[in-house]
Amino acid sequence: MLAAADETRPLRGLARIMVKTMSAAWTVPHFGYCDEIEMDGLIALRDRLKPLAASRGVKLSYMPMILKATSLALNQYPDLNAHIAADASEVTIRGSHNIGVAMDTPRGLIVPNIKDCQARSILEIAQELNRLQGLASQGKLSEDDLAGGTFTLSNIGAIGGTYASPVLFVPQIAIGAIGKMQRVPRFGLVTVDGPNGTPVQEEQVVAKHIMRVSWAADHRVVDGATMARFSNQWKAYLEEPMSMVADLR
Ligand code: COA
Repeated sequence: MLAAADETRPLRGLARIMVKTMSAAWTVPHFGYCDEIEMDGLIALRDRLKPLAASRGVKLSYMPMILKATSLALNQYPDLNAHIAADASEVTIRGSHNIGVAMDTPRGLIVPNIKDCQARSILEIAQELNRLQGLASQGKLSEDDLAGGTFTLSNIGAIGGTYASPVLFVPQIAIGAIGKMQRVPRFGLVTVDGPNGTPVQEEQVVAKHIMRVSWAADHRVVDGATMARFSNQWKAYLEEPMSMVADLR
């Protein structure tokens, strides 16, 4: 029987960078934290905003709203928007929310960031995400687009999978991975007619759109309780998107 030939490839370019960044990340003691988000409110909001976005030439996915919710939650937990020094002697809390978005491109994984999400509207974030996606697909992202990220999100659910365990993008101290949104059964309150015809609330199995998030954080400088509180706030914004309006500046 003839054995099949092996093929050895040099690790160059983006592949080489991934070897370096991921090896550095693996030296960091980190923890994971997961939760699930009910997305029905956000789906309704996107449906309402899509025509407006389209009229301005912008494609609106869920990411811009998720990015805005992240920035609003970071306003309340600024310590998570930070860089740690290589010798771990100090942490710098970054003023700008330059949120990186992991992108799957023909050349491999690349993480451009959307600068100053704290100062951009949802449609401005969408516009910038469209621009970065366009450039990434052509391999034309600039150094500036790739530099200066302060926090990262990876929407692996755009490809598939409900859960992923993200690896830190050092010197950043936190990252979130978003899974695929799915329509699944959950318990919920439904209004039904009571004995006298008066409406009452009853617990039933109802259909919900659920998306999982998994966070990873540098446990040298972030504790689980802070990550949990941040995630709770982020979840609250996504599940009740109108609440984002209350905190917009
Ligand atoms: N669940 C369900 N649907 C999703 C989804 C999710 N998690 N993420 C995206 N979608 C939908 C979008 O809403 C869109 O639907 P539409 O056509 O109705 O608008 C469609 O899938 C395509 O979305 P996409 O163009 O990918 O835009 P996006 O803004 O949601 O995501 C990127 C942009 C860059 C994050 C994404 O394209 C990507 O590259 N993801 C992979 C990231 C990765 O490789 N991570 C691993 C790092 S190790």
